[in-house]
Amino acid sequence: MINLVHFVAATALLPTLIYGQKWHKRDWNVTSSGGSVNITNGLAQTPPMGWSSWNMFGDDINEELIKSTIDAMEKNGLRDAGFVYVNLDDGWQRYKGGRKDHPLEVDPVKFPSGMKALADYAHSKGFKLGIYSGPGDETCAGYTGSEGHAEEDAKLFASWGIDHLKYDSCCSHHTAPKEEVQKVMLDMSQALIATNHSVVFHACHCGWADVWEWAAEEGANQWRIGQDISDDFNYPGNREKYYFDVLDMLDRGNNITQYSGPGHWNDYDMLIVGLNGESKQLVGTGASNLEYRTHFSMWSIVNSPLLIGSDVRNLDAYSLQTLTNKDIIALNQDPLGQPATVQAQVGETQIYAKEMSDKSIAIALLNRGSATADITMSPRRDLTVPFDVYTLKDLWTGKTRGPYDIPFTVEVRPHEAKMYRMYLVEAAAKGT
Ligand code: GLA
Repeated sequence: MINLVHFVAATALLPTLIYGQKWHKRDWNVTSSGGSVNITNGLAQTPPMGWSSWNMFGDDINEELIKSTIDAMEKNGLRDAGFVYVNLDDGWQRYKGGRKDHPLEVDPVKFPSGMKALADYAHSKGFKLGIYSGPGDETCAGYTGSEGHAEEDAKLFASWGIDHLKYDSCCSHHTAPKEEVQKVMLDMSQALIATNHSVVFHACHCGWADVWEWAAEEGANQWRIGQDISDDFNYPGNREKYYFDVLDMLDRGNNITQYSGPGHWNDYDMLIVGLNGESKQLVGTGASNLEYRTHFSMWSIVNSPLLIGSDVRNLDAYSLQTLTNKDIIALNQDPLGQPATVQAQVGETQIYAKEMSDKSIAIALLNRGSATADITMSPRRDLTVPFDVYTLKDLWTGKTRGPYDIPFTVEVRPHEAKMYRMYLVEAAAKGT
């Protein structure tokens, strides 16, 4: 766990009405102070989905845990729902302490069969294996980092058959100038591409140095938009003056959606669904089933990578149902890759929406407040789309409502997001 006191307050909700923001443009157009580079590995055309060891287990990981996680995800339907990346976070390395004093090796006690054997096991079951390192002498949890060895380590990861790398500069470079962070990220990105092995690249810089403005040009497929998430839906302020809860993350993402799209995604951090305040690693007291469901719905509609952070070997039925809802996952994996933006806000309620590749509209009616609220959505006023007659598929009940030719009003419970897919009535009649 890191304990940096870096700030960033959640955006306060204005008690005003904001209607009908335009869809954001899909063509992102960023200029980076790095300037001349513009490289891509062509991967992650939709947000990566899978599991990561950190949120539940911290660095207490081993071969048995990873294999049994793979087995569980094969059996409980998570793999078939699309969660294929199984990512080891910090703690797989043999040595605590800096790279100056130690080589980068797999811990032979935690992983006696080695990393290649684990990747082979994952691949044999239809999964991909992810690993973690960072550009510092040490990683965040104090293990040997990759400083000065990007090329050598990229080759090592490729030789093991690794498919995803979280490259974490949060601790080693948190006060470094932007140019230095850009350089170390670019070094690893280029080194990975040079191996000719497909490795999804996560440039993890905890939402600092305007990482969203330049990481895509450097070939990164995802980057964190904030400091670590805690196991909370809405903690007052920032826990330990550092952590962000679910609503904080959503607020942080709202003004930077234009940087997210196919191949390069704003990452709202790993999921907390199912942690129930029992993590060995994360702070936080947990959230209710409904809050976790809202969290999953919102991460999906804003196109965050979806990396489950709980112990998937012991998921309760409700959490499993939450994580395997195909209609919700379809919002996240839509090929158009458009993240939802806030279209309207009234008091503590918000309407998020985005266009889908089939021209339907994905909608979240989010109640952030602590009292049940009526939310009214008018297609023309709130979404600036010319839908006169429409139907709404409720993505949690599966029921289609309408057709409507007037604004739609629904009661939304505290911390609930009602999720819909809206179709023009003609299109709905054809069953599309
Ligand atoms: C940082 C990251 C976390 C995790 C740890 C590992 O805190 O933000 O997601 O990777 O490092 O030490």
